[in-house]
Amino acid sequence: MLVSAKEMLEKARDGKYAVGQFNINNLEWTKAILLTAQENNSPVILGVSEGAGKYMAGYKTVMGMVRGMIECLNITVPVSVHLDHGSYEGAKACIEAGFPSIMFDGSKYPIDENIEKTKELVAQANALGLSVEAEVGAIGGEEDGVIGNGDIADPEECKRIAALGVTMLAAGIGNIHGKYPENWKGLDFDTLEKIKAATGNMPLVLHGGTGIPTDMIKKAISLGVAKINVNTECQLAFAAATRKYIEEGKDLQGKGFDPRKLLAPGFEAIKATVKEKMEIFGSVNKA
Ligand code: 13P
Repeated sequence: MLVSAKEMLEKARDGKYAVGQFNINNLEWTKAILLTAQENNSPVILGVSEGAGKYMAGYKTVMGMVRGMIECLNITVPVSVHLDHGSYEGAKACIEAGFPSIMFDGSKYPIDENIEKTKELVAQANALGLSVEAEVGAIGGEEDGVIGNGDIADPEECKRIAALGVTMLAAGIGNIHGKYPENWKGLDFDTLEKIKAATGNMPLVLHGGTGIPTDMIKKAISLGVAKINVNTECQLAFAAATRKYIEEGKDLQGKGFDPRKLLAPGFEAIKATVKEKMEIFGSVNKA
């Protein structure tokens, strides 16, 4: 069932668990994530970066593929499709392409410009019943060409953005896209508590879900995080499984060169990764 992310995130916030956002890159990833959500009776969000949208031949293709799979695979759990770290233009393009949910990442702009642009997109999205994620304080590291400094968000700025009617708020609290460095200081829970106090009931989003220890994930959920984004971990699992299959020479045996066989181990690896995350986030049986 294709839905905006609003209701599933409000339920997660109230039930003290988090919905996983897993980024998609192609048909196999999409199918693996949807089937895992259905098998585990979990709500799910499919994240689409601008680069991935382009790779998959455009946002309309993405929506066509997801709609088709929901119908043909009998996916009855709540599924949202969400633009990840969208630019202002990207967010508008996704609204037009029928996305049920968008993120506008205005964290690179001065706060007043971030507010102005977020406000405009919220008005458009709200009129269509779409959910909107805004960002304050850049997430560190690089994702699909979007580079962030890893700024810690200012709770007062979070309060201003939350007041615009966004559905969910991503706030930098020391989280980083990709792998965490050895000397990473961990999540800044003091700031998270202040953001929570400043934004009231707003479901908060934790980006950079790869490599955050389970105890920190659970603490973040207890402090208001209702959505956690995972991308790199699926990429690593997919790449490792595909590489292993080739290194073992299985692609040279029988019909190993069949693309469906070649991609099958990576497909299974994504399913296992997503299942593990859904268990940690507590979203299993919450559809
Ligand atoms: P990771 O790649 O670190 O899992 O982060 C994903 C993310 O935050 C997508 O927005």
